[in-house]
Amino acid sequence: MKYYFVRHGLAEELQDSDFNRELTDRGRRRVGTAARVMKRLNICPAKIFSSPRLRSLQTAEIIAEELGMEVVVADAVNFGFDLPDMQQLTRGLDSNDDVMFVGHNPDMSLVVHKLTGSNVAMKKGGLARVDVFSRKARQGELVWLIAPKAFDALGDGVDAADVGGEIGKERLPDKLADSSTPLHQLIQRRWSPLGFDPDRRIEKPILTSILEAARWAASSSNLQPWRFIVAPKDNAAEFKKVFSVLKEGNQPWAQNAAVLMIAVAQNNRGPGVPNPHASHDLGQAIAQMVLQALDHGIYVHQMGGFFPEKAREVYRIPEDYEPYTAIAFGYRRADLSHLSDAHRTREVSQRQRQELGEMVFNGSWARRADFLD
Ligand SMILES: Cc1cc2nc3c(=O)[nH]c(=O)nc-3n(C[C@H](O)[C@H](O)[C@H](O)COP(=O)(O)O)c2cc1C
Repeated sequence: MKYYFVRHGLAEELQDSDFNRELTDRGRRRVGTAARVMKRLNICPAKIFSSPRLRSLQTAEIIAEELGMEVVVADAVNFGFDLPDMQQLTRGLDSNDDVMFVGHNPDMSLVVHKLTGSNVAMKKGGLARVDVFSRKARQGELVWLIAPKAFDALGDGVDAADVGGEIGKERLPDKLADSSTPLHQLIQRRWSPLGFDPDRRIEKPILTSILEAARWAASSSNLQPWRFIVAPKDNAAEFKKVFSVLKEGNQPWAQNAAVLMIAVAQNNRGPGVPNPHASHDLGQAIAQMVLQALDHGIYVHQMGGFFPEKAREVYRIPEDYEPYTAIAFGYRRADLSHLSDAHRTREVSQRQRQELGEMVFNGSWARRADFLD
């Protein structure tokens, strides 16, 4: 029989009561991803026992709902959970029944250690499977130890719910690239949505990491000609400023972004010496930002539809710098009722691409590259 040990997902910081600490949004989403993977792995315990502490109970409930089960709340799985508790809880069960316990560290890791002799470090939202030969056995084999990151990778992607998985019961369109070969999952998943969540902000460290990704792009002569004017929504005045330079067609959906940005390139290497690669390098830096953002579950929509000269005026951008694009960043939400009908239709429409042969040549211009056949 199989024992599954789950450590509760990511929970909010301790405030008044440890007992009532809830899962964070991210914690819920990751446990949701883990639960969907568990279902695909055909994990079907006869019972799911959970510690009564809220973060554990919420974790167990997300898993139980996905597996179509009920949670049994058991104080024995609370702090101090040990082998005798496990044996007592499972006493009445059929000898073939698999059982899941959802609780806390260090107890979960320690119980797995006592059963298997392995030193395990169970991460929040992680799962261990231990197979034993009989209910009385105090020894078993550690068959799996799955960290939440691995669940993310096995599941719908990183922070799956942001990415085309489910939030509650609602589905987000995922619009994966219908590519001719498998691609890196970030490339496969990237697209330009309109349905940003107007209520969700981007945390500062995450925003910084997105910008850091741009910083490490390649550039001609390492000139790093990119500059970014960045307006997080928390800074209402700044957000309004960038918003004011967007063209009317983009404003209705871009107002829901969590961060607006203007991307600028320095077109000169120095006074009077042009840098013909500046826009190339800016685009490359933005591409890195887009993928780094998606790694955080944040989507990006780039816009040519803005007024560069107005941006120049509003921000006093010097002559040798050129504003190229405005960019919207944000989390998506499944409920698209804040979008116009036309935008809702666009949000679920199929993505189109030219064939590879129409853009990859050799022999002569516009001749489809021979290696594609
Ligand atoms: C430089 C640039 C400018 C764009 N301008 C706009 C724009 O002003 N408004 C808009 O809705 N989408 C804009 N887009 C998004 C494109 O329409 C979108 O990337 C394209 O249709 C491919 O779709 P996908 O990104 O979902 O794969 C722009 C994209 C880029 C890269």
